[in-house]
Amino acid sequence: MFKTMIADVKNLSYSYGNVRALDNIDMDIPEGAIGLLGPNGAGKSTLIRILLGFLPPDKGSGHVLGYDIQNQQKKIRKNVGYMPEDDCFIPGMDAVSFTSYLGELSGMPKQEAMKRAHEVLFYVGLEESRYRQVETYSSGMKQRLKLAQAIVHDPKLVFLDEPTSGLDPSGRKEILELIMDISSKKDIHVLISSHILPDIESTCSHVVILSEGKTAAQGSISELKKIKYNLYEIRTYGDDKGFIKKLEEMGCKVEQVEDKIIKIYMPPDNSHLELFKLAVEQDVQIRHFVKSQTSLEDLFAKAVGAE
Ligand SMILES: Nc1ncnc2c1ncn2[C@@H]1O[C@H](COP(=O)(O)OP(=O)(O)OP(=O)(O)O)[C@@H](O)[C@H]1O
Ligand SMILES: [Mg+2]
Repeated sequence: MFKTMIADVKNLSYSYGNVRALDNIDMDIPEGAIGLLGPNGAGKSTLIRILLGFLPPDKGSGHVLGYDIQNQQKKIRKNVGYMPEDDCFIPGMDAVSFTSYLGELSGMPKQEAMKRAHEVLFYVGLEESRYRQVETYSSGMKQRLKLAQAIVHDPKLVFLDEPTSGLDPSGRKEILELIMDISSKKDIHVLISSHILPDIESTCSHVVILSEGKTAAQGSISELKKIKYNLYEIRTYGDDKGFIKKLEEMGCKVEQVEDKIIKIYMPPDNSHLELFKLAVEQDVQIRHFVKSQTSLEDLFAKAVGAE
């Protein structure tokens, strides 16, 4: 089925000095509510900064809403809202001035920005505190203010970097409900980064799992959840590069545990006999073979580093 994409990246890599934060990422992000799931340090914030055009990729290409991330950054920022992970407030400003100022920075005329600032602060439930200095806000209020500034200029798409971070369970629930409302009623596409699977499952229809700068899995959550992968751990002898490539083409997810030891997540429709056949074709010997079962939850858990 053809789906319209709101963003895509191809062969994207980025390093901070010798720290490789993103390693040859390919991904297609369809319309709707999309989760970017991964443990601390997986590369989520780096990817978002690259999509916004704040960081130039070392290698690879990408588009957001059809605009090129390397030379149409202004157009991207005009049409995309961004809720950063860290506080982005200007000291000494109240919430209304701050929000309208950011609206102006996104290209809105002053009066309109002020009008919209009141509207969005009302929408996120900060109407009574809108003239208070932001420094006096609780963590929950700060998150809601960050969300308000991300939507002040009526973007088509918002990037929300860890929107539930630092919140207690009820604060988390509130912000997730707001995000779902933005996505469904306001017709804004949202990309939410998180390391918490339930947060993504409750808000998103599609997920990209990042692990150590690579995509570990991506697709529709309901489809991914149906898949029960068969997991095989094997030890190979011989040059296994071509063998691994063929396995990936077959739809397997392959994880190199150490040299010559690989884990293969094979879709249920394929048989392990195909694995042996492929090994023969690729001139690789399988010296050791262990079978176990896994599910998408295991894939998620593995990617987010849980037991
Ligand atoms: N400014 C920087 N200088 C050097 N290394 C950095 C910098 N920013 C990030 N990194 C490294 O790049 C990798 C990816 O970091 P990134 O912040 O993108 O991950 P993340 O998934 O957003 O993590 P978190 O969940 O902790 O926010 C990590 O190894 C991190 O230490
Ligand atoms: Mg981050």
